[in-house]
Amino acid sequence: MQFTLIFGLLLAGGFYSQLELAEGAKILAVYAYPGKSHFMMHNALMRELVESGHQVTMITAFSLEKEQLGENFTEILIEPVYDYWNDVKQNFKADHLFELTRLTSHDFLKMLEIIGLKTTEHALKQPKVQALIHAQETEGVFDLLLAEQFYQEAFLAFAKIYKIPVVTTSTLSYENNMSQMMGLISPWSFVPHGFSPFTDRMNFLERVTNSYVSLYEDLQRLLSYFPKMDAVTREFFGPVLGEVPKVRHMERQISLMLLNGHAPMTTARPTVDAMVPVGGMHIYPPKALPQDMQAFLDGAGEAGAIYFSLGSNVQSKDMPPEMLSLFLRVFGSLQQRVLWKFEDESIGQLPENVMVRKWMPQADILAHRHVKVFITHGGLFGTQEGVHYAVPMLGIPIYCDQHLNINQAVLGGYAISLHFQSITEESLRHSLHQLLHNSTYKETIQRMSNIFRDRPQDPRRTAVYWIEYVIRHGGAPHMRSAGLDLNWFQFYLLDVIGFAVVILIAGILTIWLAIRLLMRSYKKLRKTKNE
Ligand SMILES: *[C@@H]1O[C@H](CO)[C@@H](O)[C@H](O)[C@H]1NC(C)=O
Ligand SMILES: *[C@@H]1O[C@H](CO)[C@@H](O)[C@H](O)[C@H]1NC(C)=O
Ligand SMILES: *[C@@H]1O[C@H](CO)[C@@H](O)[C@H](O)[C@H]1NC(C)=O
Repeated sequence: MQFTLIFGLLLAGGFYSQLELAEGAKILAVYAYPGKSHFMMHNALMRELVESGHQVTMITAFSLEKEQLGENFTEILIEPVYDYWNDVKQNFKADHLFELTRLTSHDFLKMLEIIGLKTTEHALKQPKVQALIHAQETEGVFDLLLAEQFYQEAFLAFAKIYKIPVVTTSTLSYENNMSQMMGLISPWSFVPHGFSPFTDRMNFLERVTNSYVSLYEDLQRLLSYFPKMDAVTREFFGPVLGEVPKVRHMERQISLMLLNGHAPMTTARPTVDAMVPVGGMHIYPPKALPQDMQAFLDGAGEAGAIYFSLGSNVQSKDMPPEMLSLFLRVFGSLQQRVLWKFEDESIGQLPENVMVRKWMPQADILAHRHVKVFITHGGLFGTQEGVHYAVPMLGIPIYCDQHLNINQAVLGGYAISLHFQSITEESLRHSLHQLLHNSTYKETIQRMSNIFRDRPQDPRRTAVYWIEYVIRHGGAPHMRSAGLDLNWFQFYLLDVIGFAVVILIAGILTIWLAIRLLMRSYKKLRKTKNE
């Protein structure tokens, strides 16, 4: 008895002393991509890491100064914020983002390639980032590199300079192209490409398109994107590293990925232990609303309220004027109050029941018990908040993964989708009526919400746990798929299939030859008999 106790204590002691290794770690976080929504995930992660006692140096596109993270947080701000929408508008002749609804998946991949290269270069040129690249002292300066899984691969070279393991974050959750980085196969038959409008239930033609887009992306990355990103990496890291590893190899050395997704919002698909879903990290317990909004929503009463936002990139104020008046006409005729994130507060002639503000604490608004419908562009962060607080959604997807998110929500039975360019007064009115008065939507999303929240640990703690795990073990080679070290033809079993085909052909050939030989000797026999 005593023995077991002492033994147990010893074990526990060993366990804890090992845990202590990851305390007060020094982390370099490179989140240079200037996307406001991406920042929501990273902001939450930085705060959680600092509060867990780690020292974080962050290269960032947006300042975290007002978070007041204290002495253990150092910020390297990229100035000015790179305006990538300028590149988009120039390259795709779009005056405002609503026109992006007409871009194809190809255009999008092309667009991201341009944005990725430009924003990466912009960040690498910054004097303070240069100082980190050319640092004299690199031994023991950092314990871990945190980077973003979004067209920013050059930064992975920091892991070579400081000889540290890498954890990446993906704000888009799972992507097909991660299969190659993590050494697994994602069948295109039921794993939809991130920028296609498909769900995991595809008909034949959809599967054809999905395979085509996925293959196209793989080849585009390999043949067009990687050479360019390799060139950027060489230019900036070459002088220090000499031999700069190829991006394609560096991304196969990533220890772990934190993915902004979680069941039931992600569909079942092949994965490895090193891909950890932490969706919803940016959602905190609701805070008090600004007084005017609180009063507006409180006063909505039993009829309820509708919250409308197209996110941080697409601006409602850029809507074509006829569309704007359509929305206002429909809203004006409703019993519900409407809270609209609208960037031009001086817009005139608002119906009595509509309030516009250029900034809104979205999650806190969705948490209000009177909010009955969320009109959204379908960004992943917003849809997660909608699911978390169980508010049925009217999706108006514009680009990127928004179509996928909304389609998934429609299939899940908690959203209705409208195509922006073809919205009519009738369709808008009808959709809102369904979402407000048909209880199936609310019941379904309530069920989704319960599942989404049901986890052993909240997503921020989960993320910090896995980051510390990688630090404790100096990387996670034990979780790395051996598939990463195979040739592509070995990986896809083409050598085995080839071998089987050869055996089969050899077998058929042997039988055929044997029959021919038999026939010949039979004929010969008959000939000699007849003579
Ligand atoms: C900063 O980090 C050090 C080392 O981990 C720790 O001892 C100290 O308490 C931290 N300071 C704050 C304000 O958290
Ligand atoms: C594909 O790969 C890039 C580079 O790692 C990544 O940033 C992106 O999110 C991935 N997904 C898609 C759909 O392009
Ligand atoms: C309520 O919504 C469900 C799901 O879209 C639909 O099948 C049903 O017909 C709707 N009920 C009414 C009364 O419109």
